[in-house]
Amino acid sequence: MSTHVKTSTAERIASIELNRPEKKNALTLEMYGAMSEAITRAEADAAVHVILLHGQADCFTAGNDLADFLAAAGQPLASSPPARFLEAIRTARKPLVAAVGGVAVGIGTTMLLHCELVYAAPNARFQLPFVPLGLAPEGGSSLLLPMLAGYQRAAELLLLGRPFGAEAAVAAGLVNEVVPAERLLEHARDAARAVAAQPPESVRITKELLKRPTAQALEERMAEELRLFGERLGSPEALAALGAFFQRKKG
Ligand code: COA
Repeated sequence: MSTHVKTSTAERIASIELNRPEKKNALTLEMYGAMSEAITRAEADAAVHVILLHGQADCFTAGNDLADFLAAAGQPLASSPPARFLEAIRTARKPLVAAVGGVAVGIGTTMLLHCELVYAAPNARFQLPFVPLGLAPEGGSSLLLPMLAGYQRAAELLLLGRPFGAEAAVAAGLVNEVVPAERLLEHARDAARAVAAQPPESVRITKELLKRPTAQALEERMAEELRLFGERLGSPEALAALGAFFQRKKG
């Protein structure tokens, strides 16, 4: 059981809370494992109709733990805990709802591309810093983002890797609605409850049909992204950028 991921099930909703606030909910291998396990459990539990992902009002997640990136340099990523987590959200048959307050960096943004309903607080700050970090897009973002946001906007978000806010995320098609921070989690939970109250087989079929046009291409693209990401992790560009992050406070 991970100490940094809290899970609970109530009202036909499996909730997964990222809870490592001292590190901005940066995701460790253990946290990925706990999240994948929670999704697998929810998928197998007939009493669960919807999966809800959230952090705290001021933090969703700062993305992959950068120390783990350094440690993973040169290792194959194909069956790594992050890869298994991405696989779990790519193949989840039950609807995924997310509530995002504060930072949602890297995989904190790309995991949202796999969700059906995403709510964000006005303080949400999304970022896809793969290029500035010398890495490669992941989570299917190189395929899903241009489909959602249009080519130029996707190129801007990926090539510049700058932070963007909740309204820009709505404009990019990444977020359904901006909700006041104090009501964010309850709003997302209400939406999850509303989906959970629908006939589950009808929900399942609808999600499957919505995902079908991209399913095959997405599987292939995510495998390709993972291979490139693994190669990039060991590159001089990435090692310099990751080293700079940990040096910045020492300087
Ligand atoms: N991996 C490991 N540690 C991280 C982290 C990450 N992705 N993100 C934040 N942390 C740690 C910081 O090192 C710091 O630890 P310390 O207090 O021991 O020094 C702590 O979390 C708080 O972060 P801090 O940078 O002080 O908070 P902030 O509010 O000034 O900035 C972020 C928040 C998210 C903008 C900034 O931490 C950041 O850019 N993180 C890296 C995000 C990233 O590149 N993720 C990978 C994407 S592929």
